[in-house]
Amino acid sequence: MGLSLKNPIIIASSGLTDSVEKIKELEANGAAAVVLKSLFEEEIILEMKETEHRMTGRPFLFPETLDFTEEELYEDSVRKYIRLIKEAKEAVQIPVIASINCVSSQKWMYLAKEIQEAGADGLELNLFFLPSDDDREQLDNLVITDAIIHQVKEIVSLPVSLKIGYYCSNLASYISRISEAGVQGIVLFNRSWMPDIDTENLLVTSGPILSSPGDFSQTLRWVSLMSGKVKCDLAASTGIHTGDAVVKQLLAGAKAVEIASVIYKHGPRYIKTLLEDMKKWMTDKDFESIDDFSGLLKHSSAGNPAAWERVQFMKNFSQFIS
Ligand SMILES: Cc1cc2nc3c(=O)[nH]c(=O)nc-3n(C[C@H](O)[C@H](O)[C@H](O)COP(=O)(O)O)c2cc1C
Repeated sequence: MGLSLKNPIIIASSGLTDSVEKIKELEANGAAAVVLKSLFEEEIILEMKETEHRMTGRPFLFPETLDFTEEELYEDSVRKYIRLIKEAKEAVQIPVIASINCVSSQKWMYLAKEIQEAGADGLELNLFFLPSDDDREQLDNLVITDAIIHQVKEIVSLPVSLKIGYYCSNLASYISRISEAGVQGIVLFNRSWMPDIDTENLLVTSGPILSSPGDFSQTLRWVSLMSGKVKCDLAASTGIHTGDAVVKQLLAGAKAVEIASVIYKHGPRYIKTLLEDMKKWMTDKDFESIDDFSGLLKHSSAGNPAAWERVQFMKNFSQFIS
């Protein structure tokens, strides 16, 4: 995103970054930057309607969001968010990146300006479309994404990144197109809520909230395939749980990683362990700086680029079953 970081470890948007005290602790343990917990588009629009209601006395109707925000009707979540940015900026030296979880290019955009004025170092937009609507074309998602980026870039000058999921019919062209739309960074990938089924009670329930170390491969593949081809930085997210996994993402071409689950599991002190493990690997391999190995194994520079695109197990698999 054009930000200068002391190391590549960014704490991802989550409950880990929703208070100044937590952010201070993350910085004290070595985090290079934090992405604040997202403000959801629905909350922002609700706040606008609320303000209008207070000023005009006219009632407003917003039934879709009222259900889950009723208790917070008078709680001004947007003001709280702006205050969090200001207080975090006063309390820590590391970059503080705000985050908005959006699904449309609605009027919530005004908030981008307030976020910039509050002193945020960047803005991450968390865009999530689950392609479960069979009437919706992939082009619709591209049009919305383009519209969001262009509107935000017209309003603010701070660096903007987009965090996306990997459900997409042509991921490579989608990522390229986003990078051409003027964002400074793309985060691959967000982790969505996972469903499960309770077979005893025949209920749909929540799957694991936190990622596992094995979840990092999808990110690794796409960081490698796209780095060097996009016009912005890439950050890797999902399933990065060890210093070795951080190194792999950097070798594949990521400029930074965004982590949450492993810090939920082990606490903020674990950032130090990740950094020590990375340093040890660099010393063993005689790398003095990250620039010495960044992107060394990305698809376009790898000695065996076809390995990144292999989809079938073929002979690798036959070794296991013979
Ligand atoms: C409990 C929890 C809350 C999260 N909340 C948000 C959020 O508010 N906004 C967002 O963009 N991502 C959110 N995420 C996703 C993380 O930012 C991150 O992208 C994802 O968890 C993958 O990284 P990980 O494998 O290190 O957890 C959340 C993740 C977790 C586990």
